[in-house]
Amino acid sequence: MNTLTTCFFVVLAIGCAFAGLSGSGTTTRYWDCCKPSCSWKENTGTHNPVVSCSKDGVSELTNASVSSGCEANGGSYVCNDLQPWAVNDSLAYGFVAASFTGGADNKYCGICLKLTFVNALSGKTFIVQNVNTGGDLGANQFDIQIPGGGVGIFTLGCSTQWGAPDSGWGQQYGGVSSDSECSQLPEALQSGCHFRFGWYENADNPQVNFEQVTCPSELTDLTHTENNDLTMTLSSS
Ligand SMILES: *[C@@H]1O[C@H](CO)[C@@H](O)[C@H](O)[C@H]1NC(C)=O
Ligand SMILES: *[C@@H]1O[C@H](CO)[C@@H](O)[C@H](O)[C@H]1NC(C)=O
Repeated sequence: MNTLTTCFFVVLAIGCAFAGLSGSGTTTRYWDCCKPSCSWKENTGTHNPVVSCSKDGVSELTNASVSSGCEANGGSYVCNDLQPWAVNDSLAYGFVAASFTGGADNKYCGICLKLTFVNALSGKTFIVQNVNTGGDLGANQFDIQIPGGGVGIFTLGCSTQWGAPDSGWGQQYGGVSSDSECSQLPEALQSGCHFRFGWYENADNPQVNFEQVTCPSELTDLTHTENNDLTMTLSSS
């Protein structure tokens, strides 16, 4: 069911106010070290770009037009702290690349989503902010940023930033396969790698239900941006 359908039914009952995006979707995981596409000023309209960092993954860039470290001679990378963490057994925070329409949906940059899981991770809630788009993603696909989760199609970022193997740590798609292999990653990225084998129970691309929520400060304090427009609907324009 897409949001337009949801909205159509909701409009009869409560006027369709603050519906937000919702539905069911799929997940994958990645950490490619690249500048997230929502970190380009050109992609985020009236909203601030997601913060991006220099090669150390810590120093925040003030210029949102510096090219990505996934391009030759690029100088902008994802900041180290955009990795997931657990608050307690039932709640975690993190960041995703999302597509709702099956293409690069820049207009949804900065929105936040509550993900709950289907057939896995019972009773757990993962609150995430969308920091990246992906032309390679399908509709309602959430590619969760997990260090050591595989670099995917962009192989240059982690090798130039951290000296990672050419196809990243572990498998290019999927990444490392055990908690102990997280030690291959730079120390600054190891906590997010361990998260996968801890709170996330090494779930392999679990199905989710998603619901747009107002962004919590726990996330926006790290990205320096938010998009709390809960009146958006799913459309490709
Ligand atoms: C921002 O970076 C771009 C790309 O490197 C460069 O062309 C531009 O001059 C920079 N802007 C500022 C204000 O430094
Ligand atoms: C987890 O933390 C959240 C936010 O502080 C809180 O609302 C929730 O009750 C906590 N859950 C457990 C099981 O401790």
